[in-house]
Amino acid sequence: MGPLSRDDFTVHWADHDLGEVVVSAKEIADRVNELGRRIASDYAGRPPLLVCVLKGAVNFMADLMRAIELPVEIDFMAVSSYGAATKTSGVVRIVKDLDVDLLNRDVLIVEDVVDSGLTLNYLRQYLGARNPRTLEVCALLLKEGEQRVEQSLKYVGFSIPADFVVGYGLDVNEKYRNLDAIYTFIGEV
Ligand code: IMP
Ligand code: MG
Repeated sequence: MGPLSRDDFTVHWADHDLGEVVVSAKEIADRVNELGRRIASDYAGRPPLLVCVLKGAVNFMADLMRAIELPVEIDFMAVSSYGAATKTSGVVRIVKDLDVDLLNRDVLIVEDVVDSGLTLNYLRQYLGARNPRTLEVCALLLKEGEQRVEQSLKYVGFSIPADFVVGYGLDVNEKYRNLDAIYTFIGEV
């Protein structure tokens, strides 16, 4: 049996909490491959350091890095901005920092979703202070009309409505990260 997705069958164990498919597994796979090709061409001769923002970007990172035909390096950061709720607090806490030096590196932040933009804004300043050669962002999802901070996002997978979504790394209370499509969440938080 293939990965879990409503493209193929109903996700019985999560069905009561899932609304519409916002982005299907197939759409994700196609777009990730496209992004990978663009990144490989933009960064030819200067392979980037991919910085995955845990935990939400973990599925995206795993697929994206395999779609980039360059000798990329990877590292991980963990930040906490939401706690257990579905609304941003605006307060970002570094839970796990990078292991590698960013000096003169071409750094590409790999994010799951940009909602208010507060998390990314904080990360950019935090990582920018370490003098990378370039610092860009690749976000899988951009919530339309929600940004409270101006963002220049070099790569965006999909612009989606402002509804809360789960799947493909995105969670509610740490669950549903293992769905391979993205769904609106209609359950109780
Ligand atoms: P921001 O700081 O408001 O842009 O929020 C960014 C972070 O909030 C993301 O990295 C996610 O961890 C989380 N987040 C925002 N929207 C959603 C959603 O619809 N589902 C799951 N997590 C979300
Ligand atoms: Mg989260």
